[in-house]
Amino acid sequence: MTFPSKEMTFPSRYVLSLLLILLLSSASRTNSDSVEDSFIHCLNSNSDLSVPFSTFCDQKNSSFGSILQSSAQNLRYLTPSMPKPEFIFTPLYESHVQAAVICSKQLGIHLRVRSGGHDYEGLSYVSEIETPFIIVDLARLRAISVDIESNSAWVQTGATIGEVYYRIAENSKIHGFPAGLCTSLGVGGHITGGAYGSMMRKYGLGADNVLDARIVDANGKILDREAMGEDLFWAIRGGGGASFGIILSWKIKLVPVPETVTVFTVTKTLEQGATKILYRWQQVADKLDEDLFIRVIIQAAEIPGRKGQRTISTSYNALFLGGVDRLLQVMQESFPELGLTQKDCIETSWIKSVLYIAGYPSNTPPEVLLQGKSTFKNYFKAKSDFVREPIPETALEGLWKRFLEEEGPLSIWNPYGGMMSKIAESAIPFPHRNGTLFKIQYVTNWQDGEKNMAKHMEWIRRLYNYMAPYVSMLPRAAYVNYRDLDLGMNNKSNTSFIQATAWGSRYFKDNFMRLVRVKTKVDPDNFFRHEQSIPPLPLQQG
Ligand SMILES: Cc1cc2nc3c(=O)[nH]c(=O)nc-3n(C[C@H](O)[C@H](O)[C@H](O)COP(=O)(O)OP(=O)(O)OC[C@H]3O[C@@H](n4cnc5c(N)ncnc54)[C@H](O)[C@@H]3O)c2cc1C
Ligand SMILES: *[C@@H]1O[C@H](CO)[C@@H](O)[C@H](O)[C@H]1NC(C)=O
Ligand SMILES: *[C@@H]1O[C@H](CO)[C@@H](O)[C@H](O)[C@H]1NC(C)=O
Ligand SMILES: *[C@@H]1O[C@H](CO)[C@@H](O)[C@H](O)[C@H]1NC(C)=O
Ligand SMILES: *[C@@H]1O[C@H](CO)[C@@H](O)[C@H](O)[C@H]1NC(C)=O
Repeated sequence: MTFPSKEMTFPSRYVLSLLLILLLSSASRTNSDSVEDSFIHCLNSNSDLSVPFSTFCDQKNSSFGSILQSSAQNLRYLTPSMPKPEFIFTPLYESHVQAAVICSKQLGIHLRVRSGGHDYEGLSYVSEIETPFIIVDLARLRAISVDIESNSAWVQTGATIGEVYYRIAENSKIHGFPAGLCTSLGVGGHITGGAYGSMMRKYGLGADNVLDARIVDANGKILDREAMGEDLFWAIRGGGGASFGIILSWKIKLVPVPETVTVFTVTKTLEQGATKILYRWQQVADKLDEDLFIRVIIQAAEIPGRKGQRTISTSYNALFLGGVDRLLQVMQESFPELGLTQKDCIETSWIKSVLYIAGYPSNTPPEVLLQGKSTFKNYFKAKSDFVREPIPETALEGLWKRFLEEEGPLSIWNPYGGMMSKIAESAIPFPHRNGTLFKIQYVTNWQDGEKNMAKHMEWIRRLYNYMAPYVSMLPRAAYVNYRDLDLGMNNKSNTSFIQATAWGSRYFKDNFMRLVRVKTKVDPDNFFRHEQSIPPLPLQQG
C-alpha cells in the first residue's frame, strides 16, 4: 500500500482515506497488510476525529530519520544497530492518543510514548526488549494555558519546560515554576520522574507542585485526578514515565518569584584551591538560605596558557531569589570561602535567569524557548548518587585522578535541604528528602560514535564503583529521571517483578512497593511497559 503524495489537496486526501478505510474493512486482507495499515484502520474506527496520513511516518518515508531524531537527546540510541520503530504516530488530539492505546493493545503492537525525548537510555524511542514497536510522539500536543488569577496552568505534555516558563513569564513577572534547568525537557517525561531545578530548595520539585492531571489509562479512557483517584495520582508524580498511562496534561501550581533575582558563576581550578572549597561547599550547600541554590559543575579543562595540560575546574553556578545586596550578605555569613564579589553577580528577571542557568549566551531573547529545541546532542552515559555525609578531600583527589583519564567527563553536584527536607519521603514516589546533602550526577560524553564507546562505558562504571564508599548505601539510591539500565532491566525471559527489585528500591526506596500495588490495580496486564517500568505483582498476572 502506498500513501497519497504530499501534493494532494485536502479533499482528495480525505476521499482517499475514506476509500482506504473501506478497503481495509472489507474482509479480504492480503499479505501486504503491514502493522501500519492495520493500525491506521483501527485508529480510524476508534477515534471520533479522523486521523490524517500526515500524522504517520514509517521507515520508508524520507522524513523518518529526521522525525525519529528530532527530540532524541542521546545519540547512543540513534546508531544504525539500535532497533527502530515500525512507524511514528504524532497525534493531533487527545482522542488520537486514546485510539493509539486501544489499537496497540488490540493489535499487540508494543507502544512507546515520547514527549521531549530526553530519556537517558532512549526508552521513549527505542525498545531493546520487544519488536515490533511504535512511537507515539506527543510533539503536536503542546498547548499551555496560564491562569494567573488561580496561580495555575494547564500544560499539554508535548510542550517543553522552557515553553512553560516562557508562557508564565509572558503573563507575570512574579510567577514561576520550579522544574528543570535544561529548557528542552519534555513536560511529559520530566514531571513523571520528579523534575528538580534551581528553585527546588525553596519550593521542592515540579512533581511536588502538580494539582491535577489528565491521563489515558490502559483501557484508553481519559481520567482526571478525581476519576483516577489519589493512588494513581500519587504514582504518576514521580513514579517514572510510561508505567501507568499516557499523561495528556498536567495542571501545575505556579510559585511566587521576585521581580529581581541574582545569578552568578564562579570557577575555581585545582590550582586555585578547588578541592578545599568543594569540601566546604559540601558542608554548607544544604543549609544555606532557601532562596539560594548553588550547584557545582565539575569538568576536566586545559590550564589557561598551558597547552595540553589539564586540570579540574569546578564552577559554582547559582540562582538567588533576591537582589545582590542580600546575596552578598548571605554568602559572607555562610560561604565566604568562595570569595563571591559584587562583580561576579548579575541582577536579572526570573525568565532571564532561566536562560542563564540553561547556558544560553547573554542577550539571547527568551523567545528562543519557543523553538522547543535542545541546544546540544551527544553520545553519553550517566549515573547518579545521593550523598548524606561530606566526601573527604582525599576521596575527591582520587576522583580528580579518574576525571583526568577521561575525554569528556562531567559531574554536577546539586544541593538539597530547604523545602526538599520538609516534604515527607512518602508524599510522592520521589523519596530522596531529609538527610540528603546533595545529589551527584556523573556523565561521560563523546562525539566519535561507537568507536570508543566500550571504553567510555567502562570508565563511568569504574568511577561509580570507586564512589561507593562515599555515597548513600542500602539502597545506593539513584534518580529515576537519570535512568540507568546498568541498575537492572525488565525483560521477557524472567518475571519483571524479580528483576525490578534491583532498581526499584534505588529509585523509590520504600515507595516502590506502593508503586507496584498501584500498577497491579490499574494495569494488571502490564500494557505500559519498558526496560524499567513498574511491574505488576506476579501473582495477579494470571
Ligand atoms: C540534557 C538534559 C538535561 C536534564 N536536566 C534535568 C534537570 O535539570 N532536572 C531534572 O529533573 N531532570 C533533568 N534531566 C532528566 C529529565 O528530567 C528526564 O530525562 C525526563 O524523563 C525527560 O523527559 P522527556 O519528556 O524530555 O523525555 P522522554 O524521553 O520523552 O520521556 C522519558 C520517559 O517518560 C515517558 N514519557 C514521556 N512522555 C510521557 C507521557 N506524556 N506520559 C507518560 N510517560 C511519558 C517515556 O516513554 C520515557 O520512558 C535532563 C536530561 C537531559 C538529557
Ligand atoms: C511522511 O511523513 C510525514 C511526517 O509524518 C507526513 O506528513 C507525510 O505524509 C509522509 N509521507 C508519506 C508519503 O507517507
Ligand atoms: C531531618 O532529619 C534530622 C535528623 O537527621 C532532624 O533533626 C530534622 O528535624 C529533620 N528535619 C525535618 C524537617 O524533618
Ligand atoms: C534478560 O534477563 C536474563 C535473565 O535475567 C538475562 O540473562 C538476559 O541477558 C536479559 N536480556 C537482555 C536483553 O538484557
Ligand atoms: C531471573 O532473575 C533472577 C534475579 O535476577 C535470577 O536469580 C534468576 O536466575 C533469573 N531466572 C531466569 C530464568 O533467567
